[in-house]
Amino acid sequence: MLEVENIHSYYGGAHVLQGISMKVPDGRVVAMLGRNGMGKTSLIRSIMGMTPPEVRAGSVRYNGEELLGRPSFYIASKGLGLVPQGRRIFPSLTVVENLMIAAREGQAKGNNGAKWDLNRVFELFPALERRRKNRGNQLSGGEQQMLAIARALMSNPSLLIMDEPSEGLAPVLVQQLRDQLIVLKQQGLSMFLVEQNFGLAMAVADDVYIIEKGQVVYEGTPADLNARPEIKKRYLGV
Ligand SMILES: Nc1ncnc2c1ncn2[C@@H]1O[C@H](COP(=O)(O)OP(=O)(O)OP(=O)(O)O)[C@@H](O)[C@H]1O
Ligand SMILES: [Mg+2]
Repeated sequence: MLEVENIHSYYGGAHVLQGISMKVPDGRVVAMLGRNGMGKTSLIRSIMGMTPPEVRAGSVRYNGEELLGRPSFYIASKGLGLVPQGRRIFPSLTVVENLMIAAREGQAKGNNGAKWDLNRVFELFPALERRRKNRGNQLSGGEQQMLAIARALMSNPSLLIMDEPSEGLAPVLVQQLRDQLIVLKQQGLSMFLVEQNFGLAMAVADDVYIIEKGQVVYEGTPADLNARPEIKKRYLGV
């Protein structure tokens, strides 16, 4: 279980996370919705030990262990796998090379114990197998996003953290992404999904948070949020 408690993060004097608390229990999918610039990436970076921003107060615990102040590689080694905003795949490496560079034994907890390897990621993303010898910069946006997720899976994370995976994807590709995330959910993988795409988050998540100007302004289930049109309109514009 990931537990973020009352964290305060800063870029210099700018106080961007103002007491955020949230949790991802094992086996659950949690979504954080929020518009541009509300602090979603800053929250992920704070969890992953990436600076900036600087976390000046609060706590980030994973399976009871305090992660604040630990370096990113250590946090990743504890089973937190990241799909960063903008994908960040290696443009000059092939699909297979991008995947193999990330391969690790990992924790495999929550994946029904089964490890991820090339065969298993190609089963989930058949389009990637057809492109296995192509370089990163030869892939479409949708293929790059699949590769970014596949690469994170190759590290065998026990918690998959994704920063706006639907960004820049055509609606048909967002639907495909939704189906792939649902497969991962059914396999028991814990996920933290940061999104602006309301439909995607609602289709995949067990719990939903909304972040507004560095604060959590809503927490509930998708069904509960659907029954709150004033919240959706005020914070998400949907
Ligand atoms: N490196 C930085 N230096 C200074 N301020 C930053 C930096 N990165 C982000 N910010 C500011 O922090 C606030 C939160 O940004 P953040 O990137 O976390 O938002 P976000 O919710 O991820 O937005 P988006 O949906 O556009 O990705 C914004 O006001 C942003 O301008
Ligand atoms: Mg962001």
